Amino acid sequence: MLLAGCGGRQDTLDPHSHQAGDIANLFWVMMAVSFGGLALVTGLLVFAWVRRRRRGIGGDTEGPHPGERTGWFVVVGMGVVFPLTVIVALFIVSDWAIVNITQAPAASSTAMTVEAVGHEWYWSFKYPGTKAVTADELHIPVDTRVNLVATTADVIHSFWVPELNRKIDTIPGQQNRILLYANQTGVYRGQCAEYCGLQHAHMGMLVFAQPEAEFRKWLKREAAPAAAPTTALERRGERLFLDGACSSCHAIRGTSAKGYVGPDLTHLGSRTTLAGLTIPNTPSYLARWITAPQHFKPGNQMPDLNLPPAQVGALVAYLESLK
Ligand code: CUA
Repeated sequence: MLLAGCGGRQDTLDPHSHQAGDIANLFWVMMAVSFGGLALVTGLLVFAWVRRRRRGIGGDTEGPHPGERTGWFVVVGMGVVFPLTVIVALFIVSDWAIVNITQAPAASSTAMTVEAVGHEWYWSFKYPGTKAVTADELHIPVDTRVNLVATTADVIHSFWVPELNRKIDTIPGQQNRILLYANQTGVYRGQCAEYCGLQHAHMGMLVFAQPEAEFRKWLKREAAPAAAPTTALERRGERLFLDGACSSCHAIRGTSAKGYVGPDLTHLGSRTTLAGLTIPNTPSYLARWITAPQHFKPGNQMPDLNLPPAQVGALVAYLESLK
C-alpha cells in the first residue's frame, strides 16, 4: 500500500520542468539527510547498548565514570551544535529552492497566458486573446513558457500538476501565477490540492503538452463556435438542450446556450474525460452521467432531470458531435 503511493500519473519524483526538478531534488536532499541522522542516532544507540556496563544495585562508587570525560562533547556537540548546523543547512537549501520555484514569471518572459478557474468541482481554462474555453483538459505547447493565472469562481482551490510545478492556490478576488512548462510532450495529470467540499477528490485535470503546430490547430478549433448538428437525431438533441434546463447552466458557443454554472460544452466531444476526470468521455458514460449525475459525483450541482431514454440518446448524440 505504501509503495502504491510512489510513482503513477502524478509523480513529483518524475519532473518534466526545471521547477519540478528543483522540488524533486529538494526531496532527495531532505530524504538523504534525514536517513543519515536516523542512521547516526540508531548507530549510537546500538553502540551504547553493546558497551553497556553491567552494574549491581547501588551502582559504581569508585571514582569518576570514564563516560563523564566525553559528556560535554556528547551533550553540547552532538545534542546542540550538530543538529543545529544540519537544520540550518537544510533551511538554507530549501529556502533557496523555494525562492527559485516561487518566483512568478514575468509576463514578458512567457510566450502565452492561460487562465485556470477553479469551480466546485471542475476546472475551466481560458486562453486570453481567443474565445477558447475548455474544462478539465488544458492544452499547452511543449517547451514553451506558459504564464498560468489561477483564480476561482467560488471557494479556495489549488491548481497542482506535480510533474510540472508546485501548487498554486486559487483565492477569491485574487490572481495567482506560476510558470507552467513541460519539457516533453505527453499528458500530465493534476489535481485540486486544497480541500474544497464534497467532491474535492474528483477535481482532477489533464495537461496535454503538444508540439507547437498541433497545439495551434487545437486552439484554433477550440476558439471556434460549435458546429451545427448534421443528423436528425443530433438536431433533436440540440433543440432539447437549448429549450430544456441544460442551457441554463451550460454554454455552447454559437448557440443561445449561455449558462455559466457548469462547464462550457462547445467542444465536449473532443475531450477524453467527463466530470473532473471521474469518467471517460464515451457515449455510454455520457448517457449515464446525464441520467444519474449524483451517482458519479454526489453533491455536484447537476440535477437529475428524469429525462426519458430517447431524449438522453438525442442529447448524447448532439453533445458527442461537438468535436
Ligand atoms: Cu477544488 Cu479541492
